[in-house]
Amino acid sequence: MSSAPAALPPLPASVKIGVGGGGLTVARVTGRAGSAEVYLRGAHVTSWNPSGNAPVLWMSAESRFTPGSPLRGGVPICFPWFGANSADPSAPSHGFARLADWELSAAREEGDDVVVEFRLTDSDATRNSAWPHRFEAVYSVTVGARLGLALSVTNNDTRDFSYEEALHTYLAIGDIRSIMLTGLEGAPFVDRLAGHDPQPAESQPVRFEAETDRIYLDTTAAITVGGAESRGITVTKAGSDSTVVWNPWIDKAAGMSDFGDSEWTQMVCVETCNIRSNAINLEPGETHTMSVWYDATE
Ligand code: BG6
Repeated sequence: MSSAPAALPPLPASVKIGVGGGGLTVARVTGRAGSAEVYLRGAHVTSWNPSGNAPVLWMSAESRFTPGSPLRGGVPICFPWFGANSADPSAPSHGFARLADWELSAAREEGDDVVVEFRLTDSDATRNSAWPHRFEAVYSVTVGARLGLALSVTNNDTRDFSYEEALHTYLAIGDIRSIMLTGLEGAPFVDRLAGHDPQPAESQPVRFEAETDRIYLDTTAAITVGGAESRGITVTKAGSDSTVVWNPWIDKAAGMSDFGDSEWTQMVCVETCNIRSNAINLEPGETHTMSVWYDATE
C-alpha cells in the first residue's frame, strides 16, 4: 500500500524531515514547548517529550520498521476497522491506515505549539480491500506542552459508509503492577479475553494483575493514569465514545516477536476509539473528527 512520496509543503524551522528506523521517512518536530517524531508510514507518532520531561509515549526496542509491519509503540492509527476484519480474516489487523504511507500535508507554528498535518485518501489498494470506499482522512498532530491528536474522516463516496477507528496509544509508565486508571468507574466493558458479553461496571479504578484487554463502550470520560511510582498522564477526548485498555502481560508479550519479553511492565495502552456499536456512520460529504489531548505531570 505504498506510493511515491508526495511533495512536501513549506516547513517551519521547527519541523525537519529525516530518515528513521528501517530507512523510513520521519518528521522531527522540535518546538519551544515539546518535541516529537512522526513517521509518514502510518502517520505514526513514535515519541513526544514535553520540554524538560521524560518521554510520555512508549516504543518497543524490538519494533520492526519493515514494509507490511506496523510499528510497536507510540500511537498506531487503527482505521477503518479495529482488530480482525470480520468479512476478510486475511485483511490486516486494525485496518490499513497504520501500514499506509501518509502525505505530510501542512506544518505550522501556533504560539509555542507546532502543528503537523497528514493526509490519507483511498487508492487502488484500499478500494480493492475489505473496505472499498472513497474517503479522505486528515490527521492533525499538535506538539507542545500537551500533545493533541485529531483524526478527521470525510466520506467522498456516493453512498454512506461505516468505519471503526482507534488512536492506539502506548503510554510509558513506571510499572504496570503499581498503576491505576481512573475515569472508567461505572462504565460497563467487554472483556476481550472472556467473550462478547458486557461485564458489569466496576466501582474502583482499573488496576492490573494479569493480561488485560477491555473495550469500554459509550464512554466519553477523561482518564488519568497514576500510581505511586508513575507520573500522572491525563487523556482527554472528544468525538470518541469508546476506550480500549490493553496490557499483554507475560505470556502474550513473550509470543510477540516485536515486543521484548520484559517490556510489558513499562507500558499501558489507553486507546481513544469509536468501535463496535460506537462505529461511525457517515453520509456522502459528511466529516467526523475524533480528538484527544495528553497532559503529563512529573
Ligand atoms: C489492542 C487489542 O487494541 O491491540 C488487543 O485490544 C491486541 O487484542 C492489541 O492484541 C495489539 O494489536 P496488534 O495488532 O498491534 O498486535
